[in-house]
Amino acid sequence: MAASRVAVVTGANRGIGEEIARQLAARGLHVVATSREPGRRFAVLDVEDRASIDAFARSHAAAGVEVLVNNAGASFDGFDAKVVARTLAVNFFGPMHLTDALLPSMRPGARVVMVSSGMGKLARLGAALRARFADPSLARAGLLDLVNGFVRDVGAGTHERHGWPSNAYSVSKIALNALVRVMARELAGDARGILVNSADPGWVRTRMGGRSAPSSVEDGAKTPVYLALLPPGGPTGEFFASERKTAF
Ligand SMILES: NC(=O)c1ccc[n+]([C@@H]2O[C@H](COP(=O)([O-])OP(=O)(O)OC[C@H]3O[C@@H](n4cnc5c(N)ncnc54)[C@H](OP(=O)(O)O)[C@@H]3O)[C@@H](O)[C@H]2O)c1
Repeated sequence: MAASRVAVVTGANRGIGEEIARQLAARGLHVVATSREPGRRFAVLDVEDRASIDAFARSHAAAGVEVLVNNAGASFDGFDAKVVARTLAVNFFGPMHLTDALLPSMRPGARVVMVSSGMGKLARLGAALRARFADPSLARAGLLDLVNGFVRDVGAGTHERHGWPSNAYSVSKIALNALVRVMARELAGDARGILVNSADPGWVRTRMGGRSAPSSVEDGAKTPVYLALLPPGGPTGEFFASERKTAF
């Protein structure tokens, strides 16, 4: 019998991540559900911690990875350089480092899904920044320059003048969406045909989304699961909401 396909889901101990893990398991995947806290059902992974990412990647390399859903995310109160650095660490650098670390173990046709947000739309940026993020030739180094520029501008009190919103979460998801485009370009010559896309789950009733959100976790998990199970040769470098391509 063929070994079952492995799906890694981060932040799977609650909220949308727990439901993504449940839906993927129901489709027959072997789900490695990760959590910051050790527990019987979880592999330990703190996406803010490079050592934790490297240890996780080492211990799961042998099995190979068919699906990676970067779901873990956070939104912190307040807005200053510290909040910005922490938000980017969890929502942008975490998914980037984990994807990089697992890339060598990815099987042909693997899918990478970034759980992003409607708050990650380019429209939240000033025109000059929007053009730099949307530039079809933007590469990894340029994206990191942009992200580090936001941190510097917030520290210097110049971010609004330079076209950034006063919202760390929003910028972290804008950068995550840009990473999807950058990674799709980086992987264009990779024979494995890996697909990298981001998903807006909608406004969902979780600890982050709150009780008055209109959508259930079942609905919120749908688009990430759809992207995790895309057929071979499917779209890559795109942003989806309600299982359809949407504008960045
Ligand atoms: N809910 C919404 O309306 C909504 C809308 C748009 C996008 N999203 C996105 O959907 C994703 C899931 O959010 P949710 O609504 O399910 O939120 P949630 O209920 O607050 O769950 C967040 C998950 O991320 C984990 N996490 C946070 N920091 C982490 C870290 N450093 N390392 C590893 N795991 C970490 C949490 O783990 P702990 O339990 O250890 O804290 C938890 O499992 C996030 O990326 C979020 O930005 C949510």
